[in-house]
Amino acid sequence: MRTLASLLWIGTLFLAVGWTLQREVSLHVSQPSLNATVAKNILLSVAYTCKGVPVIEWKHTAKWGTTKIAEWKPGTYTNISSSYRDRVNVYSNGSLQILNVAMRDSGYYLVTVTEEFGTTIYGTILLNVSEIRYEDLHFVAVFFAFLTAVSSILICLMWLCNKSLHLLQKERHPLTG
Ligand SMILES: *[C@@H]1O[C@H](CO)[C@@H](O)[C@H](O)[C@H]1NC(C)=O
Ligand SMILES: *[C@@H]1O[C@H](CO)[C@@H](O)[C@H](O)[C@H]1NC(C)=O
Ligand SMILES: *[C@@H]1O[C@H](CO)[C@@H](O)[C@H](O)[C@H]1NC(C)=O
Ligand SMILES: *[C@@H]1O[C@H](CO)[C@@H](O)[C@H](O)[C@H]1NC(C)=O
Repeated sequence: MRTLASLLWIGTLFLAVGWTLQREVSLHVSQPSLNATVAKNILLSVAYTCKGVPVIEWKHTAKWGTTKIAEWKPGTYTNISSSYRDRVNVYSNGSLQILNVAMRDSGYYLVTVTEEFGTTIYGTILLNVSEIRYEDLHFVAVFFAFLTAVSSILICLMWLCNKSLHLLQKERHPLTG
């Protein structure tokens, strides 16, 4: 009789755990930190698993405070804050794309996935937007190389001109003298 009771207990426990697990949402964040340069488009890539269709919300936290970016329920509605309206794209897997990032877009991005029964799961991504661009440095290097080449050609030409002038003068000298 005692063993049957224990078995029942264990059975109930497994059912309860199974039920909890089944209801649970999970969230996978592709990259917890991102580096970008000004004017790039970035993808805050996440993917969730959930039984129903959850509500996804993204917020940005910086030194000056927290702003809500967007809230959407895939296939149902999409609500994007007015300050982000024309520069974000939302995806049904929970990812958020921000177009043309600026320095002030640096900071923490908090994503909240809430399923029907109210279970909530969070994820954060740290974005670092920097100004120095490798392409700029590359352009400057190419420009300097170009300037150096042009100036050496000019110096050569001047030297040649000088030489030919001297030669001309030398040739003329015997005639006049
Ligand atoms: C971002 O840049 C910092 C400093 O340059 C570096 O330590 C970090 O590894 C970079 N992160 C990624 C994801 O590239
Ligand atoms: C989410 O969807 C976007 C757009 O389809 C895709 O680029 C991104 O890789 C996806 N993220 C994950 C973690 O699967
Ligand atoms: C969208 O956001 C506005 C302003 O925050 C709010 O008034 C409205 O109820 C939201 N709509 C939905 C469907 O959440
Ligand atoms: C952000 O990026 C810049 C330039 O790559 C780097 O110097 C700085 O350490 C980074 N900051 C963080 C918090 O990763």
